[in-house]
Amino acid sequence: MSSEHTFDFPKRTSTCGDLRLSDDGKDVVLNGWVENLRDHGGLRFVDFRDRYGMTQVVLDPKAKYTGEQSTLRSQFVVAVKGTVRARPEGMRNPKLPTGDIEVQANDLVILNPSDVPPFEIATTDSEPGEEVRLKYRYLDLRRQAMQERIIRRAEVTRSIRSFLDGERFLDLETPLLTKSTPEGARDFLVPARNHEGKFFALPQSPQLFKQLFMISGYDRYYQIARCLRDEDLRADRQPEFTQLDIEMAFIDEEDVYCLIDRLLAKLFGEILGVEVKLPIRRMSYADAMEQYGCDRPDVRFDLRLKDVSEIAASLEFNVFRSAVESGGRVRGIRVPQAKLSRKEISACEAVAKEAGAKGLAWVKLETDGPKGPIAKFLGDGADRRLAEAFGAEAGDLLLMVADKVNVTHAALNEVRLHLGRKLGLMGSGRFEFLWVTDFPLLDWDEEEERWVAIHHPFTSPRSDDLALLDSDPGGVRSRAYDIVLNGLELGGGSIRIHRSDIQEKVFSKIALSSEEARQKFGFLLDALAYGAPPHGGIALGLDRLAMLMTGTESIRDVIAFPKTARGNCLMTDAPSDPGAEQLRELGLEMAPRQSP
Ligand code: AMO
Ligand code: AMP
Repeated sequence: MSSEHTFDFPKRTSTCGDLRLSDDGKDVVLNGWVENLRDHGGLRFVDFRDRYGMTQVVLDPKAKYTGEQSTLRSQFVVAVKGTVRARPEGMRNPKLPTGDIEVQANDLVILNPSDVPPFEIATTDSEPGEEVRLKYRYLDLRRQAMQERIIRRAEVTRSIRSFLDGERFLDLETPLLTKSTPEGARDFLVPARNHEGKFFALPQSPQLFKQLFMISGYDRYYQIARCLRDEDLRADRQPEFTQLDIEMAFIDEEDVYCLIDRLLAKLFGEILGVEVKLPIRRMSYADAMEQYGCDRPDVRFDLRLKDVSEIAASLEFNVFRSAVESGGRVRGIRVPQAKLSRKEISACEAVAKEAGAKGLAWVKLETDGPKGPIAKFLGDGADRRLAEAFGAEAGDLLLMVADKVNVTHAALNEVRLHLGRKLGLMGSGRFEFLWVTDFPLLDWDEEEERWVAIHHPFTSPRSDDLALLDSDPGGVRSRAYDIVLNGLELGGGSIRIHRSDIQEKVFSKIALSSEEARQKFGFLLDALAYGAPPHGGIALGLDRLAMLMTGTESIRDVIAFPKTARGNCLMTDAPSDPGAEQLRELGLEMAPRQSP
């Protein structure tokens, strides 16, 4: 070797988070980034950072260092050799784990300078704009807030793996280049160069493969699996996301609830120090809809829905009457001792309308009688009867929607959530879990004029409802369940169909002809015929879990390299144009875009 080891550098003996008072006097080497530089009457203080923490380094203006200290700027990557010393009394920082010490630099080597970053990397009061964060994601990820989230996410997956390993689960992989797996979104397709005109689909979940593992006898499977769904994005959705995917054989619903209960209790206990009371509460889908108008109710606060159709229909108020006469319902929310201004009530009405309601009727119960636009219809003791139906008293506000039942649910759910936020009813740092059970199997799709599977078509009907499959498909309950946290669907799963005759029957109900079923899922139907054990499972959205466990509102904050809400990557500029040669090899040609 030549003597010029230009890439040699003093390697760290400690991280920037390690040193304590007990290290006083020790000679150390630190490697990291300059986060801040402060001049204090000649002495220069550097906040020196890596992912483990921050250490204060003191530069002596008279010292001669290898790297020219005058050029030093924020985000330079540097090696510091120095001596640990206790900070003088009064200069200690109790908020910083290393706050009792500092490192007096004896030498400083600049390993690499940095351009001026497009935003402040040091913690500031306001976050940089998301667009610039996503474009320079590697710098965004260097910020302490992001490092904490990404590291917490890694702790979550580590804890999950250790729990499931202890429960005798096998971590098994499934293919990414595969065939369509229906989870209700559009597939991403990949052209198959060696099979002209044919495409792989990227998996929306490992659903079918995990079922096949059960049939093969690997009776406890898990995978931290990437799923790909081409769907409209929201704050809690990404086209590429991660599931903790689980499947078990020889089990029923109770085994799934019990396993996930214990897993969540361990995660929240170990990582957040939050006690999850077990067993996690359960509520049937029917009750959730009835009481909250929503299949993933936020049970951190009450404001439950009440049906007051009977009383409402007896009033002179035509909106209520005609809704009930035409088969609709009048349902509402009681806001106890509400101090909402007219303007705030109007805001609730706007929320209801946005969700599809025609209006929001309201009445304020005062000691001297009802107030509000519908008060005039509440004579003859009708106000008392309405108050009774709501269990309301003077000072309460009643908000009502008259419409088809599903419209009342959608609108009141939104109004309820709006009020929950507005009135600060959700509390901070609270975690309320809920199992929602007994989902219906099928739903009538008005547009497509056919039944569709509510969970997915491999979900088992309840055996006591099997007979209804022909006579009343909408009335069949499934063995599907969701786990909900603070009003967010954290995960969902089901006990599966393990008999090919029932699977074929369900396919036929969702209008899959037997040829289509064969063509799409022939391998599953075949496999079910070779000794498929009873089985079931669940998938938890890991990104959503990490989002809730880090207290952020966007799933993008816990994914290292996410897509924008429009589904592209601002950093790499993907998706991008394929080369003409690539297209030729694939036998593809770009058709001119049809305007929508
Ligand atoms: P499901 O489609 O309900 O079930 O998905 C399970 C969980 O995955 C999360 N999730 C998402 N997270 C981020 N972005 C998305 N686009 C997204 N879509 C879903 C949610 C959801 O609860 N194979 C079945 C599971 C099973 O039956 O075992 C499935 O995928 O948190
Ligand atoms: P109107 O008589 O149209 O002025 O309506 C009187 C009140 O009833 C207003 O507060 C409307 O928001 C409300 N309203 C109108 N349609 C409905 C409906 N379908 N359900 C509940 N309230 C409604």
